[in-house]
Amino acid sequence: MSVAKSDIKRVTTHVLQEMKHKGEKIAMLTAYDFSLARIVDEANIDIILVGDSASNVMAGHETTLPITLDQMIYHAQSVVKAVKRALVVVDLPFGSYQGDSKKALNSAIRIMKESGAHAVKLEGGSEVGDSIKRIISAGVPVMGHLGLTPQSIYKFGTYSVRAKEEQEAEKLLSDAYYLEKLGCFAIVLEKIPAQLTKKVSENLEIPTIGIGGGKYADGQVLVLHDMLGLTKDFSPRFLRRYLDLYDEIKGAVEHYITDVKDGDFPNDKEQY
Ligand code: KIV
Repeated sequence: MSVAKSDIKRVTTHVLQEMKHKGEKIAMLTAYDFSLARIVDEANIDIILVGDSASNVMAGHETTLPITLDQMIYHAQSVVKAVKRALVVVDLPFGSYQGDSKKALNSAIRIMKESGAHAVKLEGGSEVGDSIKRIISAGVPVMGHLGLTPQSIYKFGTYSVRAKEEQEAEKLLSDAYYLEKLGCFAIVLEKIPAQLTKKVSENLEIPTIGIGGGKYADGQVLVLHDMLGLTKDFSPRFLRRYLDLYDEIKGAVEHYITDVKDGDFPNDKEQY
């Protein structure tokens, strides 16, 4: 029996807050299209992130920088159509919110209005405080993102672990407090030492969601294409692969090609 959209209890920012207080871990994955978002939502994921990692896994760019606001809205529209339960969060892409809080607000409003998503995510701490304040004051929930922030890759120079040194760890902790004070409903902590994640998570009221941040975060996020094994050349320590879809799909395509070439497909039952 299929379940009507209205019968499903939706995940809200309030539900996530309750989960943290009850000690229930939050599960988050990315999705960028209707078909996969539907599967992820039906599996009961708590949060779907329409991440700017779409720039890498969907568009084939080397970094997350080139993806545009229009492209993010296109992906978000496809995901929102599929989702009945999860909270849908959309990344504000590079250049759509930094240094200009009015532009940030306009970008967030376009995402919310044109896609029907439930929240936005953006990278950075005090540097983007004005943008966060303005977006939240318009009633749009904001998820923060600290640690390794891929939109700043040319500043960092590498994708290695962040905040190993005391000074950077202290800045991250004070940024986390600052984001909570501004009203962010959750913070992604990417590629930082597990003990720092523990400290942030224990000291904040709002949930932390780790990616390469270790087991003490209040929740975890992975890029869907990585955990399904659709991507081939990306194997950081934090990534657990649940399938090897690259080889499975390649095998199926090779099988199909052989069947066509041999005249085995279609057979008598597969025609009119
Ligand atoms: O874009 C993305 O997929 C992300 C996750 C890695 C958190 O920001």
